[in-house]
Amino acid sequence: MIIDESMAKKIIIFTWKMNPSSLKEAEGLFNFVLEERNKNKNENFEIVVAAPFVYLSQLSSLIHQGRVKLAAQDVFYENQGAYTGEISPIMLKNLGVEYVIIGHSERRNYLNEKDEMINKKVKAALEAGLKVVLCVGELERESGVEEAKNYVNTQLEKDFNDISSMKYEVSKNLIVAYEPVWAISTTKNARICSPEEALEMIKFIKQTLNSKFHIPNSRVVYGGSVDGKNIESFIKYQDVDGALVGGASLKTEEVEKIIKLLT
Ligand code: PGA
Repeated sequence: MIIDESMAKKIIIFTWKMNPSSLKEAEGLFNFVLEERNKNKNENFEIVVAAPFVYLSQLSSLIHQGRVKLAAQDVFYENQGAYTGEISPIMLKNLGVEYVIIGHSERRNYLNEKDEMINKKVKAALEAGLKVVLCVGELERESGVEEAKNYVNTQLEKDFNDISSMKYEVSKNLIVAYEPVWAISTTKNARICSPEEALEMIKFIKQTLNSKFHIPNSRVVYGGSVDGKNIESFIKYQDVDGALVGGASLKTEEVEKIIKLLT
């Protein structure tokens, strides 16, 4: 797939979730991503690896020339203090972590993470100079596309509450990941979201960000069972700014296929 120079930079975020189980494996997988990225001379796309907190320090020492960026998979909303077990935006920033995923559906689901807290996290992370990947997406599609849009719209309104009053340039540092929960590979009876379904929602998200939050030119990526076989069908659209890849990011053959495609 040739990425047209005139198109905005596409971003591929590999998210490892709670994997792998040792630092040695994490380094091996990260080095593989680095090698594949270094074989590919195209600068017109960005590769980000979202790894568990415990590996970030070591992985940040492996980054060469910034051709692969690091992300955390969550962050707290205060910078320091008596918050046992939490990790702050400043800690991540000082470690060389550039991105943070906030509001992933698994955290919303298993940990009952609410929009109010997600909103605080988004603001604190942006304020610390991190780039935020906010995940939104409806739980099911049975009630139709308009219902799904309402659901996503409510998430955006709550998660970005007050964001337009912020001083700094938000749009540059904000990415939204549209992840329909029914299409995530680990969801029971997951169904594939068609590229057209994804595109329609992504356009809706962009319009909403522009009209309600005055965030023009926002980047919106797609996530949900993306792999080396289907990624092109999503990111070929100009409005789809990239992909958030979960399960496939742990398989070297899939990672290789995805990075090779972006030449
Ligand atoms: P998946 O995960 O690619 O395994 O569907 C995507 C995600 O949960 O971010």
